[in-house]
Amino acid sequence: MTLPAPRVPLRKPFRKSFRNSWRELWRKVWHKAPPAVVPATPHDAAALAALHGASFHRGWDEAEFADMLGRTDTLVHVMRRGRAVVGFVASRIAADESEILSIALQPSQRGRGLSGALLHSHLGHLAGRGVKTVFLEVEEHNRPALALYARLGFRQVGRRERYYRDPTGAQTAALVLRRDLS
Ligand SMILES: CC(C)(COP(=O)(O)OP(=O)(O)OC[C@H]1O[C@@H](n2cnc3c(N)ncnc32)[C@H](O)[C@@H]1OP(=O)(O)O)[C@@H](O)C(=O)NCCC(=O)NCCS
Repeated sequence: MTLPAPRVPLRKPFRKSFRNSWRELWRKVWHKAPPAVVPATPHDAAALAALHGASFHRGWDEAEFADMLGRTDTLVHVMRRGRAVVGFVASRIAADESEILSIALQPSQRGRGLSGALLHSHLGHLAGRGVKTVFLEVEEHNRPALALYARLGFRQVGRRERYYRDPTGAQTAALVLRRDLS
């Protein structure tokens, strides 16, 4: 009696599909896992500069972020998925007031409400540092940002005409928003 030939050729495709299903599982977990909001460290400067550059017409470079992260009057939080930085928010504190300097999410992470969790956590830390009032400036046509701030209780208290210049050279106004922290 002759034994059937070993089914060696099946090994490679099997390995490949096994690897692909792990990749698929990992992709799903990565997207579903709640991202963590944690204080930024000096090691985040390069990732923050890349994220800022992908989000704003005039990006802040790595040195600017490194400087910011070394200051005691500045509070920066990052949103992480695994080791990746997918969002950040930065504020400057003066006595019991602070100003939100910038907030952004990686483009692929926008439109899912993640910035609400990021900003909510950041405001809690500002309150913990004794901040009572938070201000920020936002471009008058930035609808996602305006909706985010309205949802978190910010109200308009001022307007600065021709404050921003867009890539085409057009000038737009900044709205000044305020939120009191109780
Ligand atoms: C502003 C920003 C942080 C918002 O983050 P986000 O997590 O994508 O925002 P959300 O998914 O929570 O959406 C916020 C709101 O905007 C709405 N929205 C999202 N995209 C929109 C769009 N293109 N047009 C109009 N509204 C939009 C959402 O429906 C939501 O409204 P709701 O609170 O009434 O449900 C993000 O868009 C970003 O990084 N933008 C680039 C950087 C920036 O402009 N920063 C603000 C500087 S002041």
